[in-house]
Amino acid sequence: MINKRIGILTAGGDCPGLNAVIRSVSKNAFGLAWEVIGFEDGFQGLVEDRYRRLTNPDVSGILTQGGTILGTSNTANPFRYPVRGGRKIVFHNYADKVVACVRRLHLDALVCIGGDGTLSIAQRFVRRRVPIVGIPKTIDNDLSGTDFTFGFDTAVHIATDAIDRLHTTAASHHRVMVLEVMGRYAGWIALYAGAAGGADVILIPEIPYRVDRVCQQVRARAQHGKRFSLVVIAEGAKPKGGKQVVQRMVKASTDPIRLGGIGHVLGRQIERLTGIETRVSVLGHIQRGGSPTSDDRNLGTLFGHQAVELIRRGRFGYMVALQNGAMTAVPIRTAVGKRKLVPRNHPLVLATRAVGTSFGDSFLV
Ligand code: F6P
Repeated sequence: MINKRIGILTAGGDCPGLNAVIRSVSKNAFGLAWEVIGFEDGFQGLVEDRYRRLTNPDVSGILTQGGTILGTSNTANPFRYPVRGGRKIVFHNYADKVVACVRRLHLDALVCIGGDGTLSIAQRFVRRRVPIVGIPKTIDNDLSGTDFTFGFDTAVHIATDAIDRLHTTAASHHRVMVLEVMGRYAGWIALYAGAAGGADVILIPEIPYRVDRVCQQVRARAQHGKRFSLVVIAEGAKPKGGKQVVQRMVKASTDPIRLGGIGHVLGRQIERLTGIETRVSVLGHIQRGGSPTSDDRNLGTLFGHQAVELIRRGRFGYMVALQNGAMTAVPIRTAVGKRKLVPRNHPLVLATRAVGTSFGDSFLV
């Protein structure tokens, strides 16, 4: 006997660990003899009636796979749904279609896996009495209410590996190598990867930098016989009194701004001011691709289990969370709308400074 039927969707940018979560939610649900409906491409699947029943074979063997077997969209906001009208895009409110779909399918719960944009949309449906449980996803790790989001650890591993690889060229050619990483308005990826890769300079949005300080660090290293430097810069970093560099606008997206390009700006400045040959790499979407790390697989498995537990207990409007190493849940409304940024006194900032890394506001060797 099937005693519950739940829906599941993945929305926003893809992220390693999504399939681990889908697998965990589904297998936990199957264990309780529940039915699972997978919606395609995030909320688009609810608006356009695109969904399929997930069975055990669908979610077997996907733990290690990157991406999402359900597909995703970062533009399908049902409250502002983009529809192409000739050459223009017009926006419609299709929220009623979503509510109707949930009712028509007799869903007892809808599991929404996403970042701030997705969970903000989910919260609007919570207010419309849709029984939602949220699962926090983003490589940026900038969601409030949880110490970590899945996907972050994999992005940090990939970025750390990139720094290690740049190290060899930097040292062999006596160059400055600049690596630009993602993270939007938060510097978590830059901080964790920069620290792990032993970067000489880490620049994050939370600590506006001074180009002269960055160059002083590079010069000071050269004076100490270290003829190369590694600079890790978050895409959202900006100079003191300056602006973030916007790469493009994605009009239909919940957050239309796409940052990127600051690495090249800084690289040119360093080369001009120090005279040291400087090269720039932009890591981009490579950070989001491929197999999740063991930590992200396990966090996905834990989050999925916890989400089903919340549904079993009828606790809707909550997002599963990791706090101080333990699984918990927080109201979705308290997690969205305020970014979790790197505190200036974060232990890793302090420890990294203490071993000589500059954050562009000081120079130490
Ligand atoms: O939020 C995840 C993220 O990868 C950010 O780090 C980055 O700024 C953005 O998404 C890129 O978005 P898109 O995939 O639309 O280019």
